[in-house]
Amino acid sequence: MSEAPGTEYFRWFYDTGVWKRMHYRGIRVLKVPSDMWNYQEIFAERRIDWVLETGSLHGGSALYFADLLQLNGARGKVISIDMDGSKNMLRQHPRIEFWLGDSASPEMVARLREHLPEERGALFAILDSDHSKAHVLREMEAFLPLLRRGDYLVVEDGCVNGHPVRPEFGPGPYEAVEEFLARHPNAFTPDRAREEKFGITAAPNGYLIRN
Ligand SMILES: C[S@@+](CC[C@H](N)C(=O)[O-])C[C@H]1O[C@@H](n2cnc3c(N)ncnc32)[C@H](O)[C@@H]1O
Repeated sequence: MSEAPGTEYFRWFYDTGVWKRMHYRGIRVLKVPSDMWNYQEIFAERRIDWVLETGSLHGGSALYFADLLQLNGARGKVISIDMDGSKNMLRQHPRIEFWLGDSASPEMVARLREHLPEERGALFAILDSDHSKAHVLREMEAFLPLLRRGDYLVVEDGCVNGHPVRPEFGPGPYEAVEEFLARHPNAFTPDRAREEKFGITAAPNGYLIRN
């Protein structure tokens, strides 16, 4: 079978480490630019009101999402969770709450349940922490009850384990989504048009709309 047209470019982008040399308004961010473009289209089209991010790292992605909330006149904030805050270049921002801890722990889920307002609008959740299949599955199971119809879930970095990069990685986000959707066949509708729009993505299998 022939490869999708963007595959060779994506391998170059990933394997040369361009994604490790990217900044958003001066803060490091580890993303594919066209995925970020997809995210801003999702925020505008779906009137995203709150963001839940796992994996803050340097804070660049949280800052990007906070700017989108602000510019779109949303009421909510970005909750960005990481077990290690030492590399965070941002630390404080009026639209971001950085929480420290294991993203999928029962304590974190309880805290989220308490914190997200009952009358909230659409939520954008993005999983970008530990990319092992086991951890991504934990996160998906933990967050499923928090998500409502129309909320959006991105599972980042399904590109590893040979989809199409880092074939040696072992089961990762791509396989976690496959297993999750087999367990919960009616929970999400994959947003394939969005995933395939630019011909490359770090999140194959990972654009999901909550049913
Ligand atoms: C890929 S980086 C996040 C990149 C960032 N979202 C961006 O786009 O620039 C992954 C982060 O997940 C964090 N992490 C790993 N396992 C975690 C866990 N179980 N709970 C919370 N954070 C975790 C790591 O400390 C690391 O900072």
